[in-house]
Amino acid sequence: MVWKYANPVQIEFGVDSFDKLSELIGSRRYALVTYGEPFFDALASRLEKSAGAPVLVIRDVAPNPDYRLLAEQTGRFAELEQQPEVIVALGGGSVIDSAKVFAAAGGDFGNIRTFLESQNGAERLSAIPIIAVPTTAGTGSEVTCWGTVWDEANGKKYSLARPNLYPTHAVVDPRLMLGKPLLLTTSTGLDALSHSLESLWNVNNNPVSANYAVSAARNILDVLPKLVKDLGNIELRGRMAMASLFAGLAFSNTKTAIAHSLSYPITLRHGVHHGIACSFSLPMVLRSVQGVGGICEDSLKQIFGPDLQQGADDLEGFLGLLGISCNPAAYKIDRKEWRLLIEDSLQGERGRNFLGSASQLIEASQMVRLAEARTA
Ligand SMILES: [Fe+2]
Repeated sequence: MVWKYANPVQIEFGVDSFDKLSELIGSRRYALVTYGEPFFDALASRLEKSAGAPVLVIRDVAPNPDYRLLAEQTGRFAELEQQPEVIVALGGGSVIDSAKVFAAAGGDFGNIRTFLESQNGAERLSAIPIIAVPTTAGTGSEVTCWGTVWDEANGKKYSLARPNLYPTHAVVDPRLMLGKPLLLTTSTGLDALSHSLESLWNVNNNPVSANYAVSAARNILDVLPKLVKDLGNIELRGRMAMASLFAGLAFSNTKTAIAHSLSYPITLRHGVHHGIACSFSLPMVLRSVQGVGGICEDSLKQIFGPDLQQGADDLEGFLGLLGISCNPAAYKIDRKEWRLLIEDSLQGERGRNFLGSASQLIEASQMVRLAEARTA
């Protein structure tokens, strides 16, 4: 067996690890990328007391970072006399992904647009170091070298992926995740579950990524149902933070696969939150990979037990308890669209990462359709 694994991010994990941030910034000029909410304003003030004032604060990051807003925000970097020496990304996946765009843009969003649309012009991209401070347990972006960029006006989604876009540091402080509301906690937690499973039914899997993925998935299946009933529990928040981090470390080396490929048009067309769009199909994918063998099947059996069909039923029950339907009709996807979505999802880059067989996936997707017919 031949494989490789690498991840360069230095990780600071633990309750109140946020306090180490000023030391990591040091005397460098920093820009802060965050959300415009009181919770984040308070954290920014706390940081300013110990690290000094940032040269720029971007506090209007929106979910699903989009061309139009990113171009305008990047322009604010261009107006600075001196570019920041480090970007602190304090928030969820959209904040960390936006920070990666700013780090690469060098004040000119045109550089990003050209690279995303043609894969040309990599030499014009910069790479300002990033310190990522995730405030949700799910994105994994704190330990990956890519970010998702949306062009909603043209119905497109891109991945900005560069080896030098790994954050230099990830500061994972479970205290920052306390108080996150139920829907956000559920959807981000399910995104992390999807990252772990997607790294397993993946042609790029390896023993290290699989080890992280098994640990992540087992913890999420155990912790998330408890956490949604006890959102202020710091111990459960800590376990979810670590599971999400481990899922990130797993898929940082494999990228995602079919469930994510399927999810992007569902988010674009039907407005379904990413974490739900990329997880309601997981039982279907699990049913389709029984018999593939190797690291994938071994690892899935460590998570779900020896019978993966039963495991898929259990996973569907787990999602149901969290209020997530596995029926595409629940997301206003009809049978015809579902069939086309499945076919298209196999074609994209993420779809080609899928280790299972296309015909078994299509068969499993028709079982979903039959289930819909029975309940209709
Ligand atoms: Fe995801």
